[in-house]
Amino acid sequence: MPKIKFSKDQSEIIVAKGVNLRQALLDAGKPIASSCGGEGVCGKCWVKVMGGENTLLPPNEIEDFLKVKNELGPIYRISCQVTVEGDLIIDAPYW
Ligand code: FES
Repeated sequence: MPKIKFSKDQSEIIVAKGVNLRQALLDAGKPIASSCGGEGVCGKCWVKVMGGENTLLPPNEIEDFLKVKNELGPIYRISCQVTVEGDLIIDAPYW
């Protein structure tokens, strides 16, 4: 089962392989910005991936579009468009 570690406080959660990253964070009680509820429209749910990026599939078309629109570099992922397949280390400004 993949581990998601939060880079600032080094806390971790264990999630099921194949879960949606945004949903896994919400289920763990971590707030995540959004104005579209995970529909892939707002781009606000981005997180910084500090480790484990090699376990993720490349961004889909929606994520690519939102990253360009929001001027997000390669280290950022739009969490509602990401499937967790392995261990990750992530960060967001509000955790
Ligand atoms: S929650 Fe709006 S794009 Fe992810």
